[in-house]
Amino acid sequence: MGGDCAGAVSLFEDGTLPPKPAAYSYKSLTDDHLAKIIKELPENPFMVDEAGIRLSLAGAQEKLPVSLRDNKIRISMNGAPSSHILKTPIKDLHGTVENETFCMMLAKRMGLIVPDVKIIKINETPLYIIDRYDRKIENEQIIRLIQEDFCQALNVNSQLKYTPTLEVCFSLIRNESVVQIKDTKRFLQLVIFNGLIGNSDAHAKNISFVHGENGTTLAPFYDLLSTYVYPYAKKMAMKIGGGRHFQFLEPKHFERFAKDTPIKYKIVKETIVTMADKIVREAKDTTQEFSDLYGKNPVLKEINDVIKNSSKQKLMVFSKK
Ligand SMILES: Nc1ncnc2c1ncn2[C@@H]1O[C@H](COP(=O)(O)OP(=O)(O)OP(=O)(O)O)[C@@H](O)[C@H]1O
Ligand SMILES: [Mg+2]
Repeated sequence: MGGDCAGAVSLFEDGTLPPKPAAYSYKSLTDDHLAKIIKELPENPFMVDEAGIRLSLAGAQEKLPVSLRDNKIRISMNGAPSSHILKTPIKDLHGTVENETFCMMLAKRMGLIVPDVKIIKINETPLYIIDRYDRKIENEQIIRLIQEDFCQALNVNSQLKYTPTLEVCFSLIRNESVVQIKDTKRFLQLVIFNGLIGNSDAHAKNISFVHGENGTTLAPFYDLLSTYVYPYAKKMAMKIGGGRHFQFLEPKHFERFAKDTPIKYKIVKETIVTMADKIVREAKDTTQEFSDLYGKNPVLKEINDVIKNSSKQKLMVFSKK
């Protein structure tokens, strides 16, 4: 494993030199071939059977690093970097591909920095495709950029990804980012967005830094979906002011949260009220945009309902204080 990873890391067997960029190539796949690879992902997650390709990415979901040309999915060969990540529908949960695509589109409308996403259907299976932010194109070549998720940056084992707290993440940003004020604000917006859409799975591997030419900054956001529409996931991965149920949080939780982070309570409150007010309209427009592109899906109404409830509750509790 480890041929094409998150960031600019590639692993090779002892004594093997990394291939030169001139050797990089990409293999186009027929829909049937791709469908077979996707079906076999649980047994062959790194595609080692496929001409020894060794693709590795973190996370619980089945995924594949790929490259896209003219909307056609290709696989990297001879050490070539991938440019996109493909995720398959999660078994036993309805509409996860549509859910994540919708939430990422909504995040963009809400002003968060997120990579472009799309859905491509292969033999009737919808696949979620996201642009990689740890890649850039230079002279028509894909170049790998260094990224580090917050577990890595904190030296926390990935099995303990639910242990870093929000307070620890905010101080990490303050200590590491070259644009700490901007990134602190971005992270606050992410925390509130996740609360409003009901994303309970925002753990420390779902947020990363990019170490670019100009220093370390918060990466674009990824893995945003409304887990609240599924039966299991109502409690947030990271507590806010001691509480884990965003829908029940009150001003006192956010006061506590502001005390333990570099952000003033006034800013926290303003950000919540502004975002809660805006998100219902943006979700409606995103629903229209999504339906125009991909047709209707029942999960969209469920997400819209979560958003309506959580934003209404927040606007109500904050209007009292
Ligand atoms: N657009 C992207 N560009 C670059 N790297 C990405 C991108 N999206 C995800 N990654 C990397 O891939 C890893 C896994 O992605 P992601 O979190 O979306 O998967 P997941 O299986 O849904 O995760 P989880 O276990 O949190 O459910 C991330 O931790 C990140 O390092
Ligand atoms: Mg993840």
